Amino acid sequence: MIKNRIKIICVAAARPNFMKIAPLLEEFKKHQEFKPILVHTGQHYDYNMSGSFFKELNIQKPNYNLGIKAGLHGEQTGRTMIEFEKVCLKEKPQLVIVVGDVNATIACALVASKLHIKIAHIEAGLRSFNKNMPEEINRILTDHISNYLFCPTETAVKNLKKEGIIKNVYNVGDLMYDIFLKNIKIAEKKSKILKTLNLKPKEYYLATIHRAENTDSKNNMKEIFTALCEIKNIILPCHPRTEKYLKEYKLWDKVNENIKIIKPVGYFDMMWLLKNAKKMITDSGGLQKEAYFAKTPCLTLRDQTEWTETINNGWNKLIEIKKEIIIKNILAKIKTKTQMKYFGDGKAAKKITKILKTK
Ligand code: UD1
Repeated sequence: MIKNRIKIICVAAARPNFMKIAPLLEEFKKHQEFKPILVHTGQHYDYNMSGSFFKELNIQKPNYNLGIKAGLHGEQTGRTMIEFEKVCLKEKPQLVIVVGDVNATIACALVASKLHIKIAHIEAGLRSFNKNMPEEINRILTDHISNYLFCPTETAVKNLKKEGIIKNVYNVGDLMYDIFLKNIKIAEKKSKILKTLNLKPKEYYLATIHRAENTDSKNNMKEIFTALCEIKNIILPCHPRTEKYLKEYKLWDKVNENIKIIKPVGYFDMMWLLKNAKKMITDSGGLQKEAYFAKTPCLTLRDQTEWTETINNGWNKLIEIKKEIIIKNILAKIKTKTQMKYFGDGKAAKKITKILKTK
């Protein structure tokens, strides 16, 4: 791409970014011509939302931490832009890599675009077709100002084509599949979570809820949590946003002994909990896919999904947010078909690196 060493700023902000940036940084290290600089915007900052992922996935210490933390959408996005611009002006990178769909993704892409720095968007082309989701706006806008679009699936490539984006679009597979394949065996060896929580494989359900469309609705939270309270053996690593709203809606104290609410867990514990769960119940984008990788059936508490491939073979099902429907589906037997290789071959990081070297 460029002579001498190519200075690349990689941006990571929130929990779902860390597992995508990890395999990429590891691959860049093998190529002398790349000089990666890691910027952590600080959107997630607790040890269990951020630090533990850096430790377990061996991610280099960030060169910069912008310390942005939470805030209203405009505030969080704006503050990220102000701080990220300073880093770009100082470092003068040839490329900025942003991943996923969090507020920092669009914030940093926008800064790079105004400074005429090339942008690569990893996980490009995903669409839920629901513009009420902040993530959907972040995705669409980021894709439209990116110079290189690395898609995880063929569906994502088609979505971009429908919006007229066809140049420098590559289906490289999913970086989350790279990291899953690499770490699931390590998780088996290292994770003590089943023992700690006194769980037996395939005898519990794993649940996570954190998406704004659920947490911000008292009605949705009530339907979901009153349903979960009627099922035995639910393990729920609780996102800080969810805890905050459960307390606000006065549902926190109503959670009964059927649900074991625990703090957010690290990557190894989460993957091992997922691998051994009877079913995954979630509104997370990443976990729908990881459930597919782990061959654990998933129920998604949303109206739509960006990961439509997971639905095709019966491994994932969209569930209406109604107590009785949730209960019925948790208890129902799920019929799954043979899995297709929708998410690549676990070599997404290698493919991205190879493409960037030729540019
Ligand atoms: C963000 C992403 C979402 C992603 C999710 C993964 C956007 C618009 N949303 O949502 O797409 O699925 O991350 O987790 O970018 N908090 C802590 N400790 C932390 C991090 C957050 O206590 O380490 C608290 C914050 O103070 C805030 C809440 O959690 O009250 C929400 O954090 P925020 O970054 O605003 O959004 P997420 O819900 O995490």
